[in-house]
Amino acid sequence: MARKKIIAGNWKMNMTPSQAVELVNTLKPLVANDEVDVVFCVPAIDIIPAMEAAKGSNINIGAENMYFEEKGAFTGEISPEMLVDAGVKYVIIGHSERREYFAETDETVNKKVLKAFEHDLTPIICCGETLTQREQGVTIDFIRQQIKIAFLNVTAEQAAKAVIAYEPIWAIGTGKVATTEQAQEVCKAIRECIAEIYDDATAEAIRIQYGGSVSASSAPELFAQADIDGGLVGGASLKPDFGAIVNYNK
Ligand code: 13P
Repeated sequence: MARKKIIAGNWKMNMTPSQAVELVNTLKPLVANDEVDVVFCVPAIDIIPAMEAAKGSNINIGAENMYFEEKGAFTGEISPEMLVDAGVKYVIIGHSERREYFAETDETVNKKVLKAFEHDLTPIICCGETLTQREQGVTIDFIRQQIKIAFLNVTAEQAAKAVIAYEPIWAIGTGKVATTEQAQEVCKAIRECIAEIYDDATAEAIRIQYGGSVSASSAPELFAQADIDGGLVGGASLKPDFGAIVNYNK
């Protein structure tokens, strides 16, 4: 069965609650495309108003992060139960900015992935190499390590439902999109890694996105690649351009 594309916006630390409502209302008619899954991952404080504004549309509201404990003395964190209660289905885990600025590691990513599945949340698990790693030719080795640790103790049934976002760090917010060949090569390697950990059926089912300076002009070619099942979009997800990205196949 063909995998359904999943195109997600990552708003990062942008948009106040009232701006979020405005943006959802602006984008709602532009992102109407039932052939793909559309997700807006928004700051925690925007989740409820964005959810309200998106009602009746094809937009799913997702989170940008969550903590791996159930509840308790973890000031400032958001629990999986809070997300579920707000109606969230998708949560970004281990974005490179969380790894770089908030000390997230492959191990904490793994804990969050397990916790997300426990609560029936679909994790969008991020991986990606630095420019130095690419230049030194260790990209695939590094990504395989990130994937193997992220999926530790995750069952095949859970893994089949996961989303992986391959985001080369050097391509994030730089306007420097990976070439189609570079993106496809790594996404294919990720699928092969999943097949090694689990089996071919799990690898065929899992969805792998590309992220890093995706734009309306680069999306069609990227999303046409055999192993690229959509995108995780930063900057362009805050603009009407996101409509063109979501409708890349029209
Ligand atoms: P940009 O699309 O702004 O490069 O951001 C990519 C990203 O980090 C999405 O998670």
